[in-house]
Amino acid sequence: MKNRPIGIFDSGIGGTSIWGEIQELLPFENCIYLADSKNAPYGEKSKERIVELSIKNTEYLIGQDCKLIVVACNTATTNAISHLRQNYQVPFIGIEPAIKPAAINSTSKTVGVLATQGTLSSSLFHSTAKNHAAGITIVEQKGTGLVEMIENGELNSSKMYRTLEGYILPMLEKGIDYLVLGCTHYPYLIPLLKKMLPPNVKIIDSGQAVAKQTKAILEQKGLVTTSTEMGIHQFYTNGDEKVLKNFLLAANLNLTVSFLDF
Ligand code: DGL
Repeated sequence: MKNRPIGIFDSGIGGTSIWGEIQELLPFENCIYLADSKNAPYGEKSKERIVELSIKNTEYLIGQDCKLIVVACNTATTNAISHLRQNYQVPFIGIEPAIKPAAINSTSKTVGVLATQGTLSSSLFHSTAKNHAAGITIVEQKGTGLVEMIENGELNSSKMYRTLEGYILPMLEKGIDYLVLGCTHYPYLIPLLKKMLPPNVKIIDSGQAVAKQTKAILEQKGLVTTSTEMGIHQFYTNGDEKVLKNFLLAANLNLTVSFLDF
């Protein structure tokens, strides 16, 4: 029971940023990661379609005997996690833009959120903003096109730089001092963002918080692995295996990447 894997899914490779935090905090856990790159970006799809795709990913991971599922995608969390929790018994951990810590710490009382259209238009995002950012101006910016470029492995191209700059500069003009990355693909843009942001603007994402929450729920439910050996990590993508492998090279761990037509 306890030694079953943790399941993680995303619309593509973005959730590997969350997997990285999880495996660092819980090194003995086995993980199965599902990258639904064939259907990325989720952010431009209807809520109904995002729910449908999240069900498909969840059922695959349950079929692989996962003990807990991490929805490593803000768009899928904000649109589908309540449906998943109502319909499946496995515990789910979701990810949402980290508005709360940004709002608490902002001195300019102006916080930027870069996220997909699907996340920004969700009711969960709006209720979080309302509950945790009273008195704060939230500057919302859709990251149109960013997920597609990251899925193509285009992290440093001049097109990426120009597109990102087009989103960041207007937020800076509005006086943000925190930039919340509301999409799990975006932490891969941090090196580029650091070139654009003045030193007083801090970047914040939810990766570590999700890893901590995963640990807390495993402990609470008595599901922490009893193994004391490094975990085994299986990655499945229905997109380009090579791109996913490149994102994982730095991890240098016991992992396999396979194509799976799911
Ligand atoms: N990684 C997903 C997220 O966190 C990307 C969404 C998409 O595929 O548009 O929102």
